[in-house]
Amino acid sequence: MSVHKNVKRVTTHTLQEMKNKGEKISMLTGYDFSMARIIDTAGIDVILVGDSASNVMAGHETTLPITLDQMIYHASSVVRAVQRALVVVDMPFGSYQGNSKEALSNAIRIMKESGGHAVKMEGGQEVLESIQRILTAGIPVMGHLGLTPQSIYKFGTYVVRAKEKGEADRLIEDAKALEEAGCFALVLEKIPADLATLVAKAVHIPIIGIGAGGGVDGQVLVVHDMLGINNEFNPRFLRKYHNLYQEMLGAFQNYIEDVKSGSFPNEDEQY
Ligand code: KIV
Repeated sequence: MSVHKNVKRVTTHTLQEMKNKGEKISMLTGYDFSMARIIDTAGIDVILVGDSASNVMAGHETTLPITLDQMIYHASSVVRAVQRALVVVDMPFGSYQGNSKEALSNAIRIMKESGGHAVKMEGGQEVLESIQRILTAGIPVMGHLGLTPQSIYKFGTYVVRAKEKGEADRLIEDAKALEEAGCFALVLEKIPADLATLVAKAVHIPIIGIGAGGGVDGQVLVVHDMLGINNEFNPRFLRKYHNLYQEMLGAFQNYIEDVKSGSFPNEDEQY
């Protein structure tokens, strides 16, 4: 029997109610049908089809190369698996930074072709026009401030952002501007915990943190990282709930051994 019978879908309004009640929001990334089905069945509130697919699914060094078509492919796979969670889809690099009309038509493509429920966009005042235009079409937008990986070549490094007062003040202003524009939630990535707590108190919309401490309204992790599939990524903020790299390696090695030795398939594993 499905655990989803009569399940109530999570909406952007649910997330706001959760913040109002002080109930924490759980969010994980998802990129494919099978993984998304498990994550949704576990009861996650939000699945982010992150442009981190560029790294963990496609093996690129940064999130910049992933295309709109590729994001739509991943998002449509996730949407087919999900019965409860809100599905938020990252707008990829280059699909919203320049021209707000193009940003709107790209956001519409994501919504129409993937069936996702909302889009996420990195940046503050500099992308406000695109955010505002997308919101006019009734598409919910999640903002993303702090370490914004699409700007990695501007930052030069993945270290903690907004440690200095100037950048911290700008981040608070950006958060307020995004709330004012109508974003339904914000991701804050890799900033000091005190600053993230301050932002979560300064705005009314939910703040989801990654490497931003426990004083925010929810947490997000990249699913491959929290499962320990990615052996080489060990930042301080990451809690690994499994060591799937070792487990999978062992399973693959056992399979290879069984095939080579002829012990697979046995009598019961054939017709
Ligand atoms: O693409 C992604 O996975 C993200 C999260 C790190 C928030 O944007």
